[in-house]
Amino acid sequence: MMSKHLDTFLMCAPEHFEVSYIINPWMEGNVAHGDHLTAQGQWQELKHALQSVAHVECMPAAAGVPDMVFTANGGLVLGDKVILSAFKHVERQAEEAHFSTWFAAHDLQVLHMPHDLPFEGAGDALLDRGVDLLWFGHGHRSDVACAPLMADMLDIEVQALKLVDPRFYHLDTCFCPLQGGYLLYYEDAFDAAAQAWIAARVPVQKRFAVSAEDALNFACNAVNSGKHVFLNHASTVLLAQLQRWGFSVHQIALTEFMRAGGAAKCLTLKMNEPHTVRSRYAA
Ligand code: ARG
Repeated sequence: MMSKHLDTFLMCAPEHFEVSYIINPWMEGNVAHGDHLTAQGQWQELKHALQSVAHVECMPAAAGVPDMVFTANGGLVLGDKVILSAFKHVERQAEEAHFSTWFAAHDLQVLHMPHDLPFEGAGDALLDRGVDLLWFGHGHRSDVACAPLMADMLDIEVQALKLVDPRFYHLDTCFCPLQGGYLLYYEDAFDAAAQAWIAARVPVQKRFAVSAEDALNFACNAVNSGKHVFLNHASTVLLAQLQRWGFSVHQIALTEFMRAGGAAKCLTLKMNEPHTVRSRYAA
């Protein structure tokens, strides 16, 4: 399915993408205001940019599930397992069967959260890229009760982080672990306890708290593959920081998707996630 050395990202073309309901603050005022051609062009640009460093697989788009373009929310992949999402909002629940079918057809063992606890996959569950740890955002979408269940199902340590700003309703809107154990995050999106956990677990020289302006441009919603970072927009300060850490930054305007509350990272789901950091980055 994939070359040994390149990452593989799952995407879903925006054929049926539109803002047709409101389930986060970004969508307010945007129902039926999208520009379909611009959305197609922006998505293609992201896909082409990713294809210069990684594999991209596309799942079939489907009518009636306009947010399925945000594949990060399909599930949480680790090794040969995926925990299927159980969407909080009924508007997205019909996506679950599509993701489940695709995952099963691609040799993943599909696991489910018990009692259909709300769980929004790699939107809220992000692997640290320096140590074997799964960061888990809750407070808006995913249920905090998923944390110990995920730890058992995937045999990995889980650190829960409470999200407190409704504009940053998924962890991947305000928190981005980068290869080598680096981290971009927007501090004000987290409660005091979560801020303390981040400070305690990520060495100060490896984390960077982005400005409100960068956060609102979805700079933390970045796709990382090796030393490449793909994002909607970054300030000169943030660009300089990423360059100091050795990353090449690719800015791709994703404004049409921001109307729905998502950008680069939400539009992808990383499929190759070996179980440990060591095996993940072994040559
Ligand atoms: N409209 C979608 C929602 O509110 C956007 C999802 C963005 N995805 C993400 N991983 N942050 O669910």
